[in-house]
Amino acid sequence: MKNELRGRVTKDGIRIYETDDFAGMHVAGALTARILDDIADHVFVGQTTEAIDAEIERMVNEAGAASATIGYKGYKHASCISVNHVVCHGIPGSKSLKNGDILNIDVTVIVDGWYGDSSRMYVAGKLSRKAERLIEVTHDSLMLGIEQVRPGNTFGDIGNAIQGYVEAQRMSVVRDFCGHGLGRVFHAPPNVLHYGRPGTGAVLEEGMFFTIEPMVNLGRPETKTLSDDWTAVTRDKSLSAQFEHSVGVTADGVDIFTLSPGNKFHPTYG
Ligand code: MF3
Ligand code: CO
Ligand code: CO
Repeated sequence: MKNELRGRVTKDGIRIYETDDFAGMHVAGALTARILDDIADHVFVGQTTEAIDAEIERMVNEAGAASATIGYKGYKHASCISVNHVVCHGIPGSKSLKNGDILNIDVTVIVDGWYGDSSRMYVAGKLSRKAERLIEVTHDSLMLGIEQVRPGNTFGDIGNAIQGYVEAQRMSVVRDFCGHGLGRVFHAPPNVLHYGRPGTGAVLEEGMFFTIEPMVNLGRPETKTLSDDWTAVTRDKSLSAQFEHSVGVTADGVDIFTLSPGNKFHPTYG
């Protein structure tokens, strides 16, 4: 049977991939992660986000891969770069980074038809204490969500783990954006919510591939989208952070496709 016809779809519309398909996701995820490792040297005070994006596009091309975001719904760049109070989908531009700016860089590549989608936080210059805490909590909330990934658990278990931790730290989880199924497509069912109640939502099964990508605000959770139709910002102008991994459900747990080869996923604070 042709590869793209294999597998099945659950009653919730979630594709179940085959054991062999994990290998394709690992190749795509590893490239995404390597690019996110290597881009760290290009983040510094005075640098523009369009220069960072140009470097990412160059790395994608050099690897013989394709950018999933260039041409996606009219988007024109190889990354989203979301600075300070930008929640997600920040468009790379000519503004220079200032000392203490925090930024999320989100890259999605396509390798042999498989999608690798990941994002992390970076800092230009010296990190403030409150930004450091926000980044730490956001990172840890993603990892707590990933710990819930195993057959028999539900998507509500993932969302609840993230929300419970974030709110206990007196920060807030963004509701307006979510994670998503992916694999041979960029965005597929389910919507992976970063909040919820235990035991609710679709049940996880071996062979599901999806992202978990919590956005956490220091202030209130509400966002608004700017007139460019992409840039989402916090309504109250508070700082926002995000981390994203692409994962697969295995027989007894989780396989993270976008692990950092240089162990640089969690920001090192100098
Ligand atoms: N990579 C983003 C995600 O995590 C999607 C970016 S779409 C773009 O789903 F068009 F804004 F690049
Ligand atoms: Co994503
Ligand atoms: Co992404």
